[in-house]
Amino acid sequence: MQRLQDRVIIITGGARGIGKATALKCGTEGAKLAIWDIDEAAGRELVETLSNAGFPARFYAVNTVNPEACLKAAAAVITDFGRIDVLINNAGITRDSSFKKMTHQQWQQVIDVNLTGVFNCTKAVYPYMAEANYGRIMNASSVVGLYGNFGQSNYAATKAGLIGMTKTWAREFGKYGITVNAVAPGFIATEMTEAMPEAVLAGMQDKTPLRRLGQPEDIANAYAFLASEEASFITGTCLSVDGGLIL
Ligand SMILES: NC(=O)c1ccc[n+]([C@@H]2O[C@H](COP(=O)([O-])OP(=O)(O)OC[C@H]3O[C@@H](n4cnc5c(N)ncnc54)[C@H](O)[C@@H]3O)[C@@H](O)[C@H]2O)c1
Repeated sequence: MQRLQDRVIIITGGARGIGKATALKCGTEGAKLAIWDIDEAAGRELVETLSNAGFPARFYAVNTVNPEACLKAAAAVITDFGRIDVLINNAGITRDSSFKKMTHQQWQQVIDVNLTGVFNCTKAVYPYMAEANYGRIMNASSVVGLYGNFGQSNYAATKAGLIGMTKTWAREFGKYGITVNAVAPGFIATEMTEAMPEAVLAGMQDKTPLRRLGQPEDIANAYAFLASEEASFITGTCLSVDGGLIL
């Protein structure tokens, strides 16, 4: 029996980066995968890869900012797979700028995806989990939410906000057998960090005791653990996966 045998896992923003690595990891552990993303081409390509590897998987075109789309997609997952065991709220964006230059639009876009999107997805999935008396919810926070970062007022606010939401939901959902945890990655080599200046990334690497950037698989391993029965008594925590960047 595999660690995530037959678990139905929704991964938002699952088409690439950390979400994609998480889908592949959970697939190898026996899970069935529902990939929610706005990037249809990448999402469908990933589902083909997963299916070819023998992992049951489906793509759902969902913009997590839209509550109706989330409700519809959650119902579709129930139709396709029969239940929802795990929700990984991974979709997130950056719109970096110093506070002085940040526009209201940059502020709002990041709030909408990183915070309201997570609220929308959890709203859509929670009733199924509560009814089943079982669930695992993970929220993608960041070291930036714990410690701040130059040029990321909007992003830091959302990633810190997610930790507050995680702890609140852990308190509210526990009686229904649902655990809720956050994961705070350090700097991980994905398209998101490709947008950052090379010198900044090199500086981060130097500051990291383990002397490397993280790989998407480092975070995928943490999500797979939190989704598993081994983590059944862990809730309301924020797990840093950052190579010791901030101690
Ligand atoms: N890469 C890092 O260094 C790092 C560090 C800390 C936290 N994180 C967080 O981890 C998560 C994944 O990061 P990544 O580096 O893999 O990012 P990425 O940009 O490579 O991938 C993000 C995915 O989310 C999807 N997405 C964006 N907006 C969406 C929306 N409204 N609805 C549905 N899907 C949407 C994108 O299409 C993409 O597939 C994010 O929440 C990010 O903030 C990343």
